[in-house]
Amino acid sequence: MKPDIRDPNLAEAGATRMEWDARQMPVLQSIKDRFCHEKPFEDLRIGVCLHISTKTANLVTAIKAGGAEPIVCASNPLSTQDDVAASLVVHHEIPVFAKRGEDADTFRRHLHTVLEAKPDILLDDGADLVTTAHLSHRQHLERVIGGTEETTTGISRLRSMAREGALTFPVIAVNDSRTKHLFDNRFGTGQSALDGVIRATNLLIAGKTVVVCGYGWCGRGVASRVRGLGGHVVITEVDPVPALEAAMEGYRVMPMEEAAVVGDLFITVTGNRSVVNRDHLAAMKDGAVLANAGHFDVEIDLEALDELAVARRPARPFVEEYTLENNRRLHVLGEGRLVNLVAGEGHPAAVMDLSFANQALAAEFLVKRHEDLTPGIHVLPEEIDRDIAGMKLESMGLSCDKMTSDQKEYLDSWE
Ligand code: ADE
Repeated sequence: MKPDIRDPNLAEAGATRMEWDARQMPVLQSIKDRFCHEKPFEDLRIGVCLHISTKTANLVTAIKAGGAEPIVCASNPLSTQDDVAASLVVHHEIPVFAKRGEDADTFRRHLHTVLEAKPDILLDDGADLVTTAHLSHRQHLERVIGGTEETTTGISRLRSMAREGALTFPVIAVNDSRTKHLFDNRFGTGQSALDGVIRATNLLIAGKTVVVCGYGWCGRGVASRVRGLGGHVVITEVDPVPALEAAMEGYRVMPMEEAAVVGDLFITVTGNRSVVNRDHLAAMKDGAVLANAGHFDVEIDLEALDELAVARRPARPFVEEYTLENNRRLHVLGEGRLVNLVAGEGHPAAVMDLSFANQALAAEFLVKRHEDLTPGIHVLPEEIDRDIAGMKLESMGLSCDKMTSDQKEYLDSWE
C-alpha cells in the first residue's frame, strides 16, 4: 500500500521531535513495553484517524509494538505534522495517508483508503472514521470488533448514531475516562489553545477581555489559563448549570450578544455551530481576534464573515484579516480550525500520555472483551482509569494514600 504523505525527506526531523515527546510519555511507554511482550494485537489491522502529531506517533508505534498492523489517516486536514507522517512511513513502515493542508476531497479519500484496508478496530477522533464506515463501507462493518473515540464531539455524534440504532459495534468513549477529560480537555486545551493564539498573534493577554464560549472541561481549562495570564474572562454558555459554576468561579457570564461587543479575543470551545454568528461579528470591536479550539471548524460563521467583509488578506501566518464595511478589522486564526493544532503543536505530550494510555488500553480492552460488549457506547472500567492515574503519579515521583480495610468497611456500611 503506497502511503500519501508530503515529503519522506522530513522523516529525520519527525523522529527527533517524536523522541523528545516520548520522554514526556512514560505511561504510554510502559504500556508499549508490555505490549512488546504480550502482543495483544497480533494479526489485527487497526485503522487510526487521529491528529497526526508527535504524540499520536508514539501511540501508533505502541500498538504496532503490540503486533497490530496500523493504517493511519488524519482527523483534521490542517493538523498533520508532515515530518511525523514521514517518520512513521520511513522509520516504522506504517502506511500514512495525510498531508497538512490537504483539500476536503483528499481528506475524505484518505478516510476511505483506511477503511478499504478492512480494519478490525477503529481508533477515531471526531467520529469521521466510524461514521464513514457506516455510511460508505457497510460491507466491511461485520469484521470490525469495535472502536474508540477521543473527543466530546465524536462521542456526541456516536450517541446520536446509537440512539437511532445505527451503530453496529461497541465504541469505547475514551473521553469519558476521568484520566482523559479532566486532564487533556482542561489542562491540555487550556494551555495549548492559548499557546496557539499567542504563537499566531504574539498578543499580550494581560488586560484583554477574553470571551470563552462554552464552559465544559475545555472551557474551564482555557478560562483558568487566561485568568493566570491576567486576562479578564467572560464566559458564554447555553447550560445554566456550568454558567452558574463559571459565575461562582468569579468569571463574568453574559449572552454572546453582549460579549460580542466587549471581547478583544474570542475562543470557542462549545462543539456547536455558529456560536459566533453574523450579528455577533457585525458588532465586534476593531482588532478583535477569533479562534476556535473545538473539534470542527463550524463554531465561527466564516461564511457570514466572508459576506460581511469588503476586503481580506493574510496579516501573519495563521492570521486572516477581514475588513468590514464599518472599517473594523477582525482577525480569524487558523481558518477557524483547532487553533492549538494549526498554529501550535497541539497538547503537550505529558497530558497526551494520559489520553493515549486510555486509547491503547481501550483497544486492548476491545480485543479482550468485545464479545461481551453490545453495539453502542461504553466506558473503560474504573480500575483501568485508576491504574493510568497511578502510573502517571508514579512517573512523577508521587504517590497517594490507600484506604485501610477498616475505612473500606466504613464506606460500605450504612447503619
Ligand atoms: N495531539 C494529538 N492529538 C491531539 C488532540 N486530540 N488534541 C490536541 N493535541 C493532540
